[in-house]
Amino acid sequence: MPNEATLVIIKPDGLKKSLTGNILSRLSETKLKIIGARVMVVEEELAVKHYSHLKDKPFFQELIKYITGSLHGENRVMALVYWGKDAIQKVRDIAGATNPEEAEPISIRGAYGRILTNGLYENVIHASSSPDEAQREIKLWFEPDEIVYELYPTKIIVAEKSERKVWA
Ligand code: PPS
Repeated sequence: MPNEATLVIIKPDGLKKSLTGNILSRLSETKLKIIGARVMVVEEELAVKHYSHLKDKPFFQELIKYITGSLHGENRVMALVYWGKDAIQKVRDIAGATNPEEAEPISIRGAYGRILTNGLYENVIHASSSPDEAQREIKLWFEPDEIVYELYPTKIIVAEKSERKVWA
């Protein structure tokens, strides 16, 4: 099994309930390497792209509200890239089943997740499901310079008249 990368997102309920430490401790059992990490606010555009394959599902709008923070009044998420052998499966094993009621009780989703009355899975973390999905998701959530390994091919572009914020 070659080394591979996977994206983990600790969702707004995870940050609101101060579960970040517990979740990172559980994930450290995988012995995988963290090669990228960001605490960020998720704009609607990113949320819709991330979940684009689910746009026809009845729970899509609630899913977008969940990841952008409006369900919890907490709009921070923590996005992480883990890297190593069999990373996708190792993370998904510790995350537990997508449906928190079907997840092993000692998994992250089994321990901390629940299903809301409207049927939405409030399952605390997202974890990539395949190498192709991981690549698509990591490229959405991270710029190449925000990851310490060069996971995928990059190119240099010269951006004229670009604006960026620097420390005053
Ligand atoms: S999986 O397990 O990631 O392969 O599942 P996938 O079908 O690709 O993604 C489903 C995401 O939608 C979230 N969600 C629900 N799925 C099914 N039924 C209900 N009711 C539902 N509510 C929310 C589910 O949690 C998956 O998102 P992530 O972020 O991966 O958990």
